[in-house]
Parts: sequence; structure tokens; C-alpha cells
Amino acid sequence: MAEPILEVSGLVKHYPLTTGILFKKQVGAVKAVDGVDFQLDQGETLGIVGESGCGKSTVAKMLVNLERPTAGSITYKGEDITTLSGKALRSVRRNIQMVFQDPYTSLNPRMTVGDIIGEPYDIHPEVAPKGDRRRKVQDLLDVVGLNPEYINRYPHQFSGGQRQRIGIARGLALRPEIIVADEPVSALDVSIQAQVINLLDRLQNDFELSYIFIAHDLSIVRHISDRVGVMYLGRIVEIGKDAEIYDHPTHPYTQALLSAVPVPDPEAREHRERIILAGDVPSPTNIPSGCRFRTRCWKAQDRCAAEVPLLAVPPHLSLLPGPTAHDSACHFAEEKQVVPPEEPSE
Ligand SMILES: Nc1ncnc2c1ncn2[C@@H]1O[C@H](COP(=O)(O)OP(=O)(O)O)[C@@H](O)[C@H]1O
Ligand code: SF4
Ligand SMILES: [Mg+2]
Repeated sequence: MAEPILEVSGLVKHYPLTTGILFKKQVGAVKAVDGVDFQLDQGETLGIVGESGCGKSTVAKMLVNLERPTAGSITYKGEDITTLSGKALRSVRRNIQMVFQDPYTSLNPRMTVGDIIGEPYDIHPEVAPKGDRRRKVQDLLDVVGLNPEYINRYPHQFSGGQRQRIGIARGLALRPEIIVADEPVSALDVSIQAQVINLLDRLQNDFELSYIFIAHDLSIVRHISDRVGVMYLGRIVEIGKDAEIYDHPTHPYTQALLSAVPVPDPEAREHRERIILAGDVPSPTNIPSGCRFRTRCWKAQDRCAAEVPLLAVPPHLSLLPGPTAHDSACHFAEEKQVVPPEEPSE
């Protein structure tokens, strides 16, 4: 099999908690990301889903080098990029770009759209020499479905959906190979979300992009992801192909998240069992021993407090044929169909 374009291994980000003003003393750590592993194949979309605060944005920031990992590696085309600096780092950064969540705050209100989209060329003039920039930016506006004549307008003159298109155009400016999209549609109206997702889908084909697509809701990533990883409290607890996660989930947390996904068909909705989780997500400064989900899990037993479940195919499921046998960090993983399988569309 071809080498993955990106491979993340043992990724950790702990933010120190300190007391004292003059003499700072570390008293603990916010374990925002606490051991994340995944790989991304060329041309693939990996969805990463989990509730707010589980560490999704921190993973995204480490991938694009806005944060330095506390531990672990990020391997891009066979090279660990967490240790690079200078020219080598710049060249890798060019190839991994981010699209941010909030199109209202991520664009500088005092810059024209042309300057916003063309700003990455200041750092990488080799991609667009000065005389060529205006045309390149206008091409990008066209590619994301905006009128190239809008180049001199300001962000406030656009709607939320249009602003996210501007953010996407900026992400594409350097012709990256990987786009890390951190909740790119979460701030948009539902009616606009599908348009932006369709645009990302089309761009993926046109520019042969690989995507990490982050969302807090499993329903949003369903149609764009080839594989999905579910995060809880700084770790991926279940990961697999689209159908493995949606139709054959084996981790109780994934099952609970799926039970909250809207089901359009009223009859199917009636038969769906809603799983309400007890309690709140624990603080990332104080992660439960053993399985980090155990304080909310209806299946928890003594073993769950003593032994950390690894993200792997559970041994008792490994001999089962088909989609049930996929990576799930649960000692007692078992399939539970929560959402009725989708009928193939006609
Ligand atoms: N710079 C920081 N310093 C301290 N804690 C942080 C910092 N950034 C994020 N966190 C904490 O790390 C956890 C994960 O945050 P984040 O990655 O933004 O989650 P998500 O994107 O899934 O909502 C949260 O508890 C958040 O408060
Ligand atoms: S390991 Fe135990 S607590 Fe964790 S998800 Fe599985 S059953 Fe629940
Ligand atoms: Mg976030």
C-alpha cells in the first residue's frame, strides 16, 4: 500500500497549570491532547468528531504548526515535521493549510479580500510573483464561486457563507496538498452548510487534496468523510471507515453521539433509541484512570478503572468478518446499531 501522506503518532499537548506570580510553580496540566494516533492517505478525507473541548482544535493547530506538541510525531511524506525549522519547515507549512471555524473573526476586517487571500504570497513569493498576484487571487475567487470583481471589497460586505469561501480561497492560495478544516461550517446556517461542504468536495477532486475535516457533530462529516475518528477527552476512542462508524459502531461513546444525530425519516426516528449520557465531561486537568470514558459509561466495570483500553481492533471482535472489527478503545466493545442504515439513494 502507498505510504500515508500524513501520520500522527502519540501526539500530546499538555498546557502547564501554574500558581504564583514571581516564582511560577507548575501544579498540573491541561491535557488538551493526550495520545492521538491516526493516518491520512493521499486524496482521503478523515473526519474528526467530538464534543466541544475534547482537543480537536489543538490537534489541528499542531498539524499546521501553530502549536508545538509536548510529545509525539507528525510525519508528512515520511519526515517528522515537529522537529523541522527554517526553510524546511516553511516548505512543509506551505503544503498543509488550515481553514478556520469562524468566518466572522478569522478575516481581518481592515484588509480587502484581495489582500487577505494573497497574504500567504508575502511569505511564499515564489508561488506568485508580484505582477501575477492579482490574477491569481481573482482565479481563486472564481474557483470558490465568488465574483472575481469583488477583489477590492471588505469582509463585512459578504455573508457568512461567502466569508467562509474567502477563508477557503486563502487556504488554497499556496496550492497545498492537505487542508485541515476546523469546524468550517459550524458557524453557518444549516442551509448554507451543505453549499460549503459541496464546494470543499469539488475542490478536493479538482486539486487532489487530502482533508482533515473537524466537526462536533457526526451528521456533518458523514457525507464528506472516507473515515471518521471519534475523540473524547484528548484521545481518539474509535476510528474506522464511514460505514464502520455509522452503521457498526462498537464504542459506547460513539453510540451515544450517534443516538443524538438527527434522523430525517420519521418512522426510523421512532425506532431509534436515544442514549443519554450521565454527568459531564471530566476536566482535562483530571482525567479518570483506566478508560477515560468510564465516569459516563453505562457499561463500565472494575477493569475499566484499572486498565487503559488501547485503540486497536478489540481481540474478541477480531475474528468477526466485516465491518464490526475496527479500531475501538473499549474493553467490552460490541456492535450496537443506533441509526438505521441509509437506503442507497436512487
Ligand atoms: N492555550 C491553552 N491553554 C490552556 N488550555 C487550553 C489552551 N487551548 C486549549 N485549551 C484547553 O484544551 C482543551 C481542548 O481545547 P480545544 O482543542 O480547543 O477543543 P475543541 O476544539 O475540541 O473544542 C479545552 O479544555 C481547552 O480549554
Ligand atoms: S472500556 Fe469500559 S468504561 Fe470504557 S467505554 Fe468500554 S465499557 Fe465503557
Ligand atoms: Mg475547536
